[in-house]
Amino acid sequence: MKLVDTPHGCKRRFVCPYHAWSYDAEGRLIGAPHFDEGFPGLQKQELGLDRFAALEHAGLIWVSTAKGATTEQIQAHLQPISPDLEWLNMAELSVAAETHLTIRANWKLLVEGGLEAYHFKVAHRNTIGPFFTDNQSTYQAFGPHIRSVLLRASFAELGATATAARRLRDHANLLYTLIPTTQLLVQQDHVIWISSRPSGPDLTELRLVTLGHRVSENPDYWQKNHEITEATLREDFEIGEHIQSGLSAEFPQRFRFGRFEGALAVFNQTVDAYLDSA
Ligand SMILES: [Fe+2]
Repeated sequence: MKLVDTPHGCKRRFVCPYHAWSYDAEGRLIGAPHFDEGFPGLQKQELGLDRFAALEHAGLIWVSTAKGATTEQIQAHLQPISPDLEWLNMAELSVAAETHLTIRANWKLLVEGGLEAYHFKVAHRNTIGPFFTDNQSTYQAFGPHIRSVLLRASFAELGATATAARRLRDHANLLYTLIPTTQLLVQQDHVIWISSRPSGPDLTELRLVTLGHRVSENPDYWQKNHEITEATLREDFEIGEHIQSGLSAEFPQRFRFGRFEGALAVFNQTVDAYLDSA
């Protein structure tokens, strides 16, 4: 039974809504109705919640649900991309708006949709397409993670700016793909945190969160911003669902990536390498 059904908060004690077993903030079982009659021989101190490695880094809390994982392993995993995460300074941001979606597609299809600009002028012609250059993007791998740079139409103006005054995020979308299931889409004045949780081969629980500065001062601005992001990403997710509908064990498909879709190849190689090592 899910112990907590609220997205965030702070509690001293957690009570299970099913049989009222209760746990303290350290996860120790501290109470269970009719315990001695019902469970003779069991020891409460052996029935605490499972422990997972967790770490605060660059303004976010990172958790590994892998058995036996350590905080040092999480740190080592993030290390190659750490300078960028620190540059983002997300500790200063707070949640402006969020949306939870269930998408009928494999999580990798949804990640891939953000890694290339080849589709912008076609799939996003009614939303962000006009604000971007046609099929111009680049990427760089940092360990298993990827930083993609997708150019806005205004990028051409950047050349006239003195190097020290250049602000790439004003003229491009920066997208960080953090293996396995976190993407950070960096825009001019905010960050969109996309967190996907695969709940089946063709099912993904997705959480979109807009993170901004001083979000309580201008709720309408942030709500509007979030809605534009959501509308654009829904175009990608709908495409993901359509691709998924064409995939089956009986008719396996091969994907072909163009030379301007190198990030997708790197992403798939990374996933394959993790699966091989598992
Ligand atoms: Fe897209």
